[in-house]
Amino acid sequence: MAKILITSGPTRQYLDPVRYLTNASSGRMGAALAESALDRGHQVTVITGPVSIPYPAGAQVKSVLTTDEMLATVEELFPQCDGLIAAAAPCDYMPRRVRSEKIAKDGEPLQLELVETPDIVATVARQKRNDQWIVGFALETEDQRFRAIVKMQRKCCDLMVSNGPTAINSLSNEVEILAADGTTIARASGAKRAVADAIIQATTPLTQGL
Ligand code: C5P
Repeated sequence: MAKILITSGPTRQYLDPVRYLTNASSGRMGAALAESALDRGHQVTVITGPVSIPYPAGAQVKSVLTTDEMLATVEELFPQCDGLIAAAAPCDYMPRRVRSEKIAKDGEPLQLELVETPDIVATVARQKRNDQWIVGFALETEDQRFRAIVKMQRKCCDLMVSNGPTAINSLSNEVEILAADGTTIARASGAKRAVADAIIQATTPLTQGL
């Protein structure tokens, strides 16, 4: 039995009190991973951005809004966990300046200056103990496997799940699970729950190696 932390869903970055940047991540992959891990007897905590899907009752769920909040919650909870599965699609950009009042339309183009948000996986990978593991996701439109391997090395993940843009807000997925040396451990397709089972199965050696 492992203690598994799962990030899930999108995050939001506000421009002003009512408008925000986000993406179409549904949280379904995170929910399927939580179900699969619970069925295998693992203890599960999900850190989720705003989603409209439910998470399984057996999971502890922490809700966050922004990428910074998701990072802070992962940094708080990961030290008590064996593994992190980063299925979230955190918003990668935030406005350099967040307006405290609603931006008023004036008929002119609105110039926004965006800066990158922190990378949650890369940040916690730097703090990771030898007895902990991290599974990242790479969603790419081109050169999927190559870019996933580069991302796995840059973010120091132990496994990488490579998937395409059709995964977003979909009921099904098609993935390749890559080991740290770049070899393909498994391919899985179909309902997100079936894909989640293959991913959780692939983490078994990581947990057993603890
Ligand atoms: O967005 P990107 O393709 O770089 O995401 C790859 C992996 O990094 C995913 O597992 C995602 O959850 C994670 N990520 C993150 N923090 C970000 C952006 C992505 O942890 N700010």
